[in-house]
Amino acid sequence: MTNLQFQRHRRLRANATIRAMVKETYLHKEDLIYPLFVIEGENIKNEVSSMPGVFQFSLDNLVAEIDDIVALGIPSVILFGLPAEKDAVGTGAFHDHGIVQEATRLIKARHPELLVIADTCLCEFTDHGHCGLIDGEQILNDASLEVLARTAVSQVKAGADIIAPSNMMDGFVAAIRAGLDEAGYEHIPIMSYAIKYASSYYGPFRDAADGAPQFGDRKTYQMDPANRLEAFREAESDIAEGADFLIVKPALSYLDIIRDVKNNYPLPIVAYNVSGEYAMIKAAAINGWIEEKKMVLETLLGMKRAGADLIITYHAKDVAQWLEEK
Ligand code: PBG
Ligand code: ZN
Repeated sequence: MTNLQFQRHRRLRANATIRAMVKETYLHKEDLIYPLFVIEGENIKNEVSSMPGVFQFSLDNLVAEIDDIVALGIPSVILFGLPAEKDAVGTGAFHDHGIVQEATRLIKARHPELLVIADTCLCEFTDHGHCGLIDGEQILNDASLEVLARTAVSQVKAGADIIAPSNMMDGFVAAIRAGLDEAGYEHIPIMSYAIKYASSYYGPFRDAADGAPQFGDRKTYQMDPANRLEAFREAESDIAEGADFLIVKPALSYLDIIRDVKNNYPLPIVAYNVSGEYAMIKAAAINGWIEEKKMVLETLLGMKRAGADLIITYHAKDVAQWLEEK
């Protein structure tokens, strides 16, 4: 035995203390962004059937929820709105008293320290369910930009701290940046959904946000899951247009893309742990097939190890609690 040459990796795994000393990656509460679905109406707290533990809240019921979020030490939320009425141009998205604008006012009045990120898109507000304006079956690019910029300005006017555009029209960061600057909001950051794939993992979200396209799909504006170089092109254009953060979405099947983006661009990188990823773990946990806490923490740690600085996740409340326990 003594003349055998090999490495003793187990020296650094011998006990909990030494393992903690050599631990490379951590998950912190500060990494978490919690999505909230706000709906017009009263006394609503609807659980989303495909996302157990996730609810649509009317404003009256949102109060207790945000108190909870703040008490758990979660620093930020991202808002998605469900309007009472939809139309062809998504008026509810940019209305000064739209549901996202009103939710933002309520949150900032009650908990000014809770950072509000407004998702800027049209699909929850258009009757056709696409993320831009349409002409027949065509999704119009440039015509959508003006509406998106207007939406962002009205969200910031209501108190949003960060704008997160998820529509995937070309030039949306430039258009929103220009709109914000013109309105005197040059200090407001843009967290761009720069790299967003046309993914089957969004299925449960479309129940939660009632934003499924009424015809066709999103493949003419969201990215092909087969493509990696396209992610570099998307990142470069968004940075050139003024993005302050880059989101990669989904996360779990795209950890290679998170690493590529982290290695190549000096911006904070955000992983979006999407609805389908959440639903898979929840379903298995409810069936008793997996240990939910361990699997969630391992999954999110994997996203951090891949290079994510922040994670948008429906598990945020559970994770904040679990981080407290240990
Ligand atoms: C819509 C939007 C989607 C998600 C966030 N914003 C769905 C889509 O593009 O169809 C997905 C979030 C999730 O699945 O958790 N702009
Ligand atoms: Zn959309």
